[in-house]
Amino acid sequence: MGQAIKRIAVNTGGGDAPGLNAVIRSIVLSALRRGWEVLGIRKGYEGLLDTSKIIQLDRDSVRGITHLGGTILGTTNRGSPFEYPIKQANGEVALIDRSDEVVENFRRLQIDGLIAIGGDGSMKIAHGFVKKGLPIVGVPKTIDNDLSGTVVTFGFDTAVTVATESIDRLHSTAEAHERVFVVEVMGRYAGWIALSSGVSATADVVLIPEIPFEIGAVCNKIMDREARGRRFSIVVAAEGAKPVDGQRVAKDQGAGREVLLGGISTQVAEEIQNRTGKETRTVVLGHLQRGGGPTTFDRLLSLRFGAAAVRMVADHTFGVMVALDPPTVLAVPIEVATERMKCVPLDCDTMLTARDLGISFGDEVEEV
Ligand code: F6P
Repeated sequence: MGQAIKRIAVNTGGGDAPGLNAVIRSIVLSALRRGWEVLGIRKGYEGLLDTSKIIQLDRDSVRGITHLGGTILGTTNRGSPFEYPIKQANGEVALIDRSDEVVENFRRLQIDGLIAIGGDGSMKIAHGFVKKGLPIVGVPKTIDNDLSGTVVTFGFDTAVTVATESIDRLHSTAEAHERVFVVEVMGRYAGWIALSSGVSATADVVLIPEIPFEIGAVCNKIMDREARGRRFSIVVAAEGAKPVDGQRVAKDQGAGREVLLGGISTQVAEEIQNRTGKETRTVVLGHLQRGGGPTTFDRLLSLRFGAAAVRMVADHTFGVMVALDPPTVLAVPIEVATERMKCVPLDCDTMLTARDLGISFGDEVEEV
């Protein structure tokens, strides 16, 4: 057992997800109950590079925030301290390792434990600092649900709910006008949002990053429906989906951040319209899936994750990430979350259900 905990810190990194504020509140109240002090590090690790961005978190700071979207600490999905983008005199951006500055400030501020809330990028950064000796507990966040080690991340349920409700709404207008709609949802490496919302909202075609699609198979499905008098169709495409003979569609390749995806729906819609002659429209749900308050499921999960993370700090269990293994929240080594993405297993129950319901993934072998 290490020395008594007196002061902890918390940060939120990567793209925001509904439930971040609930986790923060749970951490702060659980820590204050133990007589600890809590520091809020603003904008991921920025606050440990520029300590004027550190704030004290007390009971008042977290009052009434459980149901609110966003994060009171701010976040960023660029600027890992291990590869910090700095503009050079020649205008180019160089990626500089500033991790030692973070370690130095961490020690100077006498922080006994950091609870780092984030997705795969944030867990990789956290793992880097664990290897440098910092006491860290991770909390898994991402609407994409692509973090290994946990059955589900908070934020996912809210994103799926938003996507499902949106697709539900498109059915009536699609049917009224006998149109095809291609709905683009988030899902960079994994198709969890597309699959879950597509099945729940009875889409006809679901395109996910795990299954490169043949546009011909997508069009066949639409024309099969047409032949049966169903003169409209709904296609749900994850932003990371790609055709068998093509690439993911990217908007921007900026340095110091991940490639910004987007545009697959336009590409797919154009192909469908050209090949089938059916009027085809696109809807990109984008950040609507990330904004706003968390569902009840995500609120509860976030509160449970926050409190569990504090219990782990109290036990000096560091280098771990809290994880949901129903019905329990437990600790898994942080590297479990960073080693590989949790993609949709092609034989999982939801996939099998989708296939049984006749949903196309654009990979059906054409009959001769
Ligand atoms: O990781 C979550 C996610 O929503 C991805 O699906 C998406 O590619 C990315 O964040 C977009 O992030 P931003 O628009 O904030 O750069």
